[in-house]
Amino acid sequence: MWPNDSFIKLCGIELPIIQAPMAGAALSDMVVGVSQAGGLGSLACALLSVEHARKELETIRRKTSRPINANFFCHQPPQEDHAPEIKWRQRLDAYFVELGLDSNAPLPNTNRAPFDDKMCDLVTEFHPEVVSFHFGLPDKNLLLRIRETGAKILSSATSVDEARWLEDQGCDAIIAQGFEAGGHRGMFLTEDVSTQVGTMSLVPQVVDAVKVPVIAAGGIADARGILAAFALGAAAVQIGTAYLHCPEAQISPPYRQALKGTRDNDTAITNVFTGRPARAIVNRFMREVGPMSDVAPEFPLAAAALAPLRAKSEMTGSADFTPLWSGQSARLSRELPAADLTKQLAAEALKNLTLLQTMA
Ligand SMILES: Cc1cc2nc3c(=O)[nH]c(=O)nc-3n(C[C@H](O)[C@H](O)[C@H](O)COP(=O)(O)O)c2cc1C
Repeated sequence: MWPNDSFIKLCGIELPIIQAPMAGAALSDMVVGVSQAGGLGSLACALLSVEHARKELETIRRKTSRPINANFFCHQPPQEDHAPEIKWRQRLDAYFVELGLDSNAPLPNTNRAPFDDKMCDLVTEFHPEVVSFHFGLPDKNLLLRIRETGAKILSSATSVDEARWLEDQGCDAIIAQGFEAGGHRGMFLTEDVSTQVGTMSLVPQVVDAVKVPVIAAGGIADARGILAAFALGAAAVQIGTAYLHCPEAQISPPYRQALKGTRDNDTAITNVFTGRPARAIVNRFMREVGPMSDVAPEFPLAAAALAPLRAKSEMTGSADFTPLWSGQSARLSRELPAADLTKQLAAEALKNLTLLQTMA
């Protein structure tokens, strides 16, 4: 049926569609919807406390017995050095004054802790069939613990070098994340955003370089994108932005509104929200402070100073200080429940595939 069934076989799913893990935007409802529809629902745990992640996993396991993916960030924690944070707060000072906030008040914790033993305990307890990472892989002991649960291990690569490195560390499949993708760049062997590669170019080169199944991600939002991914040699797609339009997406009304009007050239890569490059819809904060800033402190520290500004401006319905993560294909998306979107995307891709085969 599908031109390449290596990934669906590997994970025991029906449809080669992964709903991208989306920290802060997708929780159990979305995961259950997608997995029940035959795709692979992903729970992003990066912004969740261990207790919250546990609750979400309990809900998911109660509502579906289908395979699921649990996703984690695995960055190096930042160095203890307050000088960059002080500089950053000074850069943001005028905004604190404008919004009537005290720029010397203690800053909130922004979570985003890297994967650790406690999160690994959740993996061993809930046995997600797939565990995926962003920003490389965690240390060998943690990886070994995950492997012993029988989970398939995935991570994102933004270059052929990163894909080869992930395969060498034992990844079961590799997500080739093209430059079009919404959210954080998964890059971990380079910090040079200017050399990041588009999906069309990255996927076939990663396919040629590794033996494990390759999942295409970045800018895929309809059946045409899925078909193109298979034509490039991918065995599945990972779709993020298109799922942000689903009612299950946990995003604010201004974010939802902004997504609806987002055109192909309305997004940019920015580091001002967290300290790491990520693609978002250009808003006031990105325009005035970025999109890339030398003053933004290391990931995830930039987010802490921004949090009070974001909270205050969101209270007035503004998205001026909100990270509006989005890929370049937001306009191709449609508003449907996650299960229906998953089934429709797969059905349309299969129909187009048959048409193409008849034409050939
Ligand atoms: C709102 C949002 C949040 C994201 N959060 C995560 C995350 O927590 N973990 C992760 O591995 N990828 C995350 N990503 C990146 C996706 O995994 C994926 O690479 C991307 O969505 C694909 O491009 P697309 O948005 O054009 O479909 C996020 C993407 C978006 C849009």
